[in-house]
Amino acid sequence: MTGVSLLWALRSPCNLGCRYCYFGTVEEHRAGLPDGPGMLSHLSRTDLDLTDIVAFVDTLPGSRVDRIFIAGGEPLIWPPVLDVVAAIKAAGVQVVLCTNGIPLNRPQLVERILAIGVDAVSVSLDSADASYNDHWRPARNGQHGHVDVSHGIRALLGARGTGSTPRVGIYTVITRRNLDAVTEMAVLAARLGCDYFVPQPIALQRGHPLHQTLSLTPADAPALERVLDRLYAEQPLPLPAPTYPGQVVATVAAAVPGMVRNCFGGTNLFFIEPDGSVWDCPSSLKIAASAHRPRRDIRGNSAKALFGPATTCADCALFSVDCVNMWPLMDFDSFLWAAGSSS
Ligand SMILES: C[S@@+](CC[C@H](N)C(=O)[O-])C[C@H]1O[C@@H](n2cnc3c(N)ncnc32)[C@H](O)[C@@H]1O
Ligand code: SF4
Repeated sequence: MTGVSLLWALRSPCNLGCRYCYFGTVEEHRAGLPDGPGMLSHLSRTDLDLTDIVAFVDTLPGSRVDRIFIAGGEPLIWPPVLDVVAAIKAAGVQVVLCTNGIPLNRPQLVERILAIGVDAVSVSLDSADASYNDHWRPARNGQHGHVDVSHGIRALLGARGTGSTPRVGIYTVITRRNLDAVTEMAVLAARLGCDYFVPQPIALQRGHPLHQTLSLTPADAPALERVLDRLYAEQPLPLPAPTYPGQVVATVAAAVPGMVRNCFGGTNLFFIEPDGSVWDCPSSLKIAASAHRPRRDIRGNSAKALFGPATTCADCALFSVDCVNMWPLMDFDSFLWAAGSSS
């Protein structure tokens, strides 16, 4: 595909409280919401309402947008989410749902995902070891966890039966604490019957309280390279492009942000926040660097006006682990291709 992909953080609230989440934690924000440019919070009170969201979706036909990754917060706990997804599909745009997987235990929700023809569902799970996953990705109700995510994935795959859509994959955040367990997680994904696996390096700002504990440092780069070499050698299921491990290791090995030529951010990929603001990409460095620009907003705006016509991709001097997580999104055709998925 050569059009525009949108990574749309549709809603702020979440039923989990992942300690490293780039939305921050509810505990941190109870005392006060962050107010820096583009800062996110699960407690945000500025999420767009359904009317504004649907008005924007209605402008998609005829625009360059051809794929939307719906994320959050947790998109599948918002009751109207599948009405929005159905409207996006009706506009001829592919949809990939990004979820923590717990809501997939609701049979009616799964049936509707199938009926709408969602193209893929990416589920987050950080380890084959339930105690690791549930420590870093705890449920706010203190009950749900690894077992429910696995069950939700099985339920979705079971309902799909011999059908080919949606494709179902697992995303794992790689940290210093689960580095050695990445291949085991991919093997579990294959055993569950998933169609793809994406290991993504953790991105935490230097001042984050967990930066020292979880972030991969240049000293971890050789171990990370060995881990990714093993994963790609064993290849238990489809993985991001063969160039991906090199990009991941290069950003972890670099002490400072580097230069990337012809970046797709702001040309073929855009990031939409729950308040409707539009950014070139979700990198915190890029958002901070573009905060002086006039605010772009989907509220009252059309997809054609916001995302076209095509221009030349610009070079960017802020290449970091924040960016690496975008590369598999831009290469998503390979995960959908097996199903012959089309909008
Ligand atoms: C913010 S979540 C939203 C969708 C959904 N709630 C979920 O967890 O999949 C999107 C993805 O970002 C990942 N993520 C969250 N915080 C991250 C961080 N600091 N660094 C890297 N990935 C992160 C999550 O694990 C998930 O795969
Ligand atoms: S489930 Fe997703 S949005 Fe919710 S806290 Fe975890 S990473 Fe963040």
